[in-house]
Amino acid sequence: MAVALLVAAGSGERLGAGGPKAFAELAGRPMLAWSLDALRGAGIEEIVVAVPPDMVGAAVPLDAGGRVVAGGATRSESVRAALAAAPPGDVVVHDAARPLVTPEHFRAALAALAGADCAIAAAPVTDTVKEAGPDRLVSATLDRSRLWAIQTPQAFRRAALERALAVDAAVLARATDDAWLVERTGGTVRVVESTPANLKVTTPFDLRLAEHLLADRLSPPPAPGRA
Ligand code: CTP
Ligand code: MG
Repeated sequence: MAVALLVAAGSGERLGAGGPKAFAELAGRPMLAWSLDALRGAGIEEIVVAVPPDMVGAAVPLDAGGRVVAGGATRSESVRAALAAAPPGDVVVHDAARPLVTPEHFRAALAALAGADCAIAAAPVTDTVKEAGPDRLVSATLDRSRLWAIQTPQAFRRAALERALAVDAAVLARATDDAWLVERTGGTVRVVESTPANLKVTTPFDLRLAEHLLADRLSPPPAPGRA
């Protein structure tokens, strides 16, 4: 069975909740508790959670296979710190900022590792995506049929992730996901289709959306026409 790294060491500046985002209350629980439930639902018990250094003593709802480590200054440094504390095995990395993740996301990413170094949850892009310079003039319209909006979970062959993370802090700081670090070391990365519901909580708007989606999950609205 794979080991999970749950990165929860960000400060959550854009959310502005007055404390670390992963510990902000979401539908009555700290945000990271929702991802821990989904991991357990997928049968993943070996879990390393990276938290802000001053939160290492804080309550994290973990079972026997879980441990807490101090995260780093950047997201990928937090991944590296968690990996260093993880027992052997392939790895699935997940952002605590994606509390709507389901057990199926973890199962699908790990299953797609067969024949790849890395497999990542991704939603097909539905907006038209254009490139523009600082002058706001459009220079290109991208071919949407080939574009994916990348999420977590991201699953890795252990050796591929270790190789990818063995770079200096400046490279780690440029990484907005770990799959990019695998790409730049020549590894194969496969996308696994997900949906926009596995959203990342970045702003207060996202938090409200996540609250509504979790409320629907706990008590689904009536089907149209059946109320
Ligand atoms: N993260 C981390 N260590 C860091 C920075 C981020 O573990 N040094 C984690 C966050 O806790 C989050 C995920 O990486 O689960 C994605 O980061 P992001 O959404 O940017 O969260 P924050 O960095 O907390 O938010 P902000 O950038 O608004 O401060
Ligand atoms: Mg951040």
